[in-house]
Amino acid sequence: MQKITMHTSKTYDILIEDGLLASAAEQIAAILPPPRKCCLVCDRTVYSLYGRQDLPLFVSLTGAGYDVNICTFDPGEGSKTLRAAEEICGVLASKGFTRDDFIIALGGGVSGDLAGFAASIHMRGIPFVQIPTTLLAMADSSVGGKTGVNTDAGKNMIGTFWQPSLVLIDPAVLDTLSQDELLNGLAEIIKAGFIADGTIFDCIGENISEAIVKAIQVKKEIVEADERESGSRRLLNFGHTIGHAIEKCSGYTVPHGCAVMNGMYLTALAADDLEWSMTPVSGLIKNVIDAFAYPKYEELKAPQLAEAAAGDKKRVSDKIIIVYPDQPGRCKTKELPVSELEGFIARGVRLWK
Ligand SMILES: NC(=O)c1ccc[n+]([C@@H]2O[C@H](COP(=O)([O-])OP(=O)(O)OC[C@H]3O[C@@H](n4cnc5c(N)ncnc54)[C@H](O)[C@@H]3O)[C@@H](O)[C@H]2O)c1
Repeated sequence: MQKITMHTSKTYDILIEDGLLASAAEQIAAILPPPRKCCLVCDRTVYSLYGRQDLPLFVSLTGAGYDVNICTFDPGEGSKTLRAAEEICGVLASKGFTRDDFIIALGGGVSGDLAGFAASIHMRGIPFVQIPTTLLAMADSSVGGKTGVNTDAGKNMIGTFWQPSLVLIDPAVLDTLSQDELLNGLAEIIKAGFIADGTIFDCIGENISEAIVKAIQVKKEIVEADERESGSRRLLNFGHTIGHAIEKCSGYTVPHGCAVMNGMYLTALAADDLEWSMTPVSGLIKNVIDAFAYPKYEELKAPQLAEAAAGDKKRVSDKIIIVYPDQPGRCKTKELPVSELEGFIARGVRLWK
């Protein structure tokens, strides 16, 4: 079993091993010993694959003496709402959950963000355990303590920093994940490679567990240095400012991972052209896009993309923070006046091929 320990406002372990779901209770008991209540929060797809009463996780929890309650929701981003968080808190209150009890977020990033948010607000905060089941959640969202829900004003507009007490990663559950979802998660692993560890590229395709571990190590170092994103944690947004703009301009028909890959490429093209980068990186990103057959977004229009990107949460007054690759395996940030954003994007669009 691989173990990574996070040292943030809370110290917690991330355990990685095939088959871990069946011995989840044993690991949880070491930090939150039974008897106590827990609430398994998952979408209905994940519930039927990994959460049901007759499946190893539930059996392991009840066998260890936990009083297991279940909260399910419809799969998809549409469930990441304040209303859904309120419903989870309602279940916790009706079952008499106290601060000794805990939530298990089982599923992808939607479950993790939603259940983590509910855990952070119920009785001003109860513990929660992350059991991620998508590649994206394993390599990225289950680690670092960002929780939240979407509102009409935008994605993740309401949220908290609330670290889990434990993260249990069982890569064997990726066997049931669709190719599209695998590509989504892979984009975040590739991003970690460009930010801080080029050796990640050697194990993608060979050993996915190792790639997950390496991506988590990158995130660990960054989050430990800047838990609440006042500086270096922004590096994790490489490709996301323009990626989010591509998602928005496409009417959310371009999947997140694909949008991030395109966002990284466009940013690198512009940064190379402006000679911000010590060593040009855009060619390498293009090779990765081609190698994994990520679709290229062809409808690029700088004014619309700039308008969408200017609304990004990472904007600081009239400046936007651009994360760009300085050389392979290292990114830097630069503040760009919002008035120059369209020109920056137009540069990338002009060189796009
Ligand atoms: N908190 C953070 O730091 C952070 C970081 C990145 C992304 N996010 C958030 O993560 C969310 C996206 O996460 P996601 O891509 O995991 O989406 P998701 O949670 O919606 O999962 C994607 C789909 O995969 C299905 N699924 C999950 N595990 C499965 C499995 N093992 N087999 C078969 N199907 C399975 C789900 O039912 C769902 O339909 C977004 O809301 C995003 O904002 C958060």
